[in-house]
Amino acid sequence: MSRIAYVNGRYLPLAEAQVRVEDRGFQFGDGVYEVVYIHRGRFLDEDRHLDRLHRSLGELRIDWPVKREVLGGILREVVSRNRLRGAALAYIQITRGAARREHVFPPPTSPTLVVTARALPPYPRDPDSWATRIITGPDQRWARCDIKSVNLLPNVLAKQAAREAGAFEMAMIDSDGMVTECASSNIWIVDASGHLRTRALGHEILPGCTRGALAALLGDEKLTLSETAFSLDELRGAREVFITSATSFVRPITAIDGAPVADGAVGPVTRKLFSAFARHAKGDLPNEV
Ligand code: PDD
Repeated sequence: MSRIAYVNGRYLPLAEAQVRVEDRGFQFGDGVYEVVYIHRGRFLDEDRHLDRLHRSLGELRIDWPVKREVLGGILREVVSRNRLRGAALAYIQITRGAARREHVFPPPTSPTLVVTARALPPYPRDPDSWATRIITGPDQRWARCDIKSVNLLPNVLAKQAAREAGAFEMAMIDSDGMVTECASSNIWIVDASGHLRTRALGHEILPGCTRGALAALLGDEKLTLSETAFSLDELRGAREVFITSATSFVRPITAIDGAPVADGAVGPVTRKLFSAFARHAKGDLPNEV
């Protein structure tokens, strides 16, 4: 069965789904996106994703292409037409639309809306088999990383460098030597003093929906979070490191630049949070806290 995509009001086989050559997403990267995890038809943290989409659109002054409730319906229709019954991902891309190429905003144009979905492997069974490695490198992105824009070139290059080094992600370091986030995930540590830390929200990082959902679960786990930036040295000296995203969930990091994190095994806090998020993702806990 061929995959089905939604493009501007039509459901089409992926091979026939197209946007225009003068689409500003293609010409300028003038657009935003979201990636939502779906567990047996249930959209995880859907409100968080649609709230963030609303914010990204607002920051770039792009109109909603359809009402928010209508987008919810389109997402479900794409999942259903692709017969995705297990673990899956939905991608939403919205651009400022197609218009004669000029940098300035065009006269009122309909935004472009694309929704696609695809199957994912089943939810990871245990944190040990889900653990992975990262490398570190400079953060080469722009000054508004809080907007989930489709301009992902530095992220693409970072992820490729990681892949070529046999790692899954790159933790990016700002010009002050502090860690921002990874190429497509947020990063957390349990520091040498035992404090759970992740960088505070600001223009330097994406406000991850997984980050937000996990932070809301910490009280139940009797854990407190310190939202403070940490340096590359603190990252290297951490007791535990993990990343979060819609596709990584809570993913333990057991090596950085080829050196083990602590003794190289998944630590107790990461283990606890892997389980707490698994319950959240699979629906044993309320979707939004
Ligand atoms: N990436 N930081 C960056 C730069 C990201 O691209 C992502 C998500 C995150 C985590 O956000 P969330 O928890 O809402 O997924 C943090 C998605 C998965 C992607 O681009 O594929």
